[in-house]
Amino acid sequence: MHPIDHGSHTIIRDMRADDRDPVVEILTGSDPWKRLGFTTTDWNRIFAPLPAGRDTFVLEIEGTVLGIAIVRRKFLFGDYLELLGIAPSAIGQGLGSRLLAHVESLTFSRAHNLFACVSDFNEAARAFYQKQGYKEIGPMPNFLIPGYAEILLRKTAGPARPLHN
Ligand SMILES: CC(C)(COP(=O)(O)OP(=O)(O)OC[C@H]1O[C@@H](n2cnc3c(N)ncnc32)[C@H](O)[C@@H]1OP(=O)(O)O)[C@@H](O)C(=O)NCCC(=O)NCCS
Repeated sequence: MHPIDHGSHTIIRDMRADDRDPVVEILTGSDPWKRLGFTTTDWNRIFAPLPAGRDTFVLEIEGTVLGIAIVRRKFLFGDYLELLGIAPSAIGQGLGSRLLAHVESLTFSRAHNLFACVSDFNEAARAFYQKQGYKEIGPMPNFLIPGYAEILLRKTAGPARPLHN
């Protein structure tokens, strides 16, 4: 259900230094990262300076930053989506799928795969990614915190190389 028509007010653009505070606030207040033990200090370290060697996007509606995505290019014949987050007050309104569609359009214009990870306990995000066409490749146990796994996800446009006989 998408109760709010964000229409043309939604902007997706490169993250700037002055987006740092709203982005850190979103992530500090969000699971799975709270449960994974990420603190404001961790996020400030990750975002100051802005992540190097990454494509970092924010989703903004009428001047308010409500989403963040970080992409690392060139991972297993594709890109790796390092982070995707929507403000807790704005989840379930279609913003995550819009931000992800933006990332995908860029990735699939140059590569065949987009990878991501999701915590095994993050049932909502697993359902979200499944709906967006991601397949769960497999769990990486005890990856971030003991007793829980990170699941590697892949969405693909097809094989990286044509078949040669
Ligand atoms: C996961 C997340 C990015 C999804 O973004 P969102 O804006 O809430 O999701 P959308 O509103 O775009 O939902 C897109 C589709 O996924 C489905 N979906 C979203 N959350 C779901 C849930 N909890 N259970 C089942 N389906 C769900 C929706 O039904 C929707 O389908 P529809 O288009 O047919 O209605 C967002 O909820 C979020 O940031 N969560 C916290 C952080 C997180 O878990 N990040 C991802 C893991 S790293």
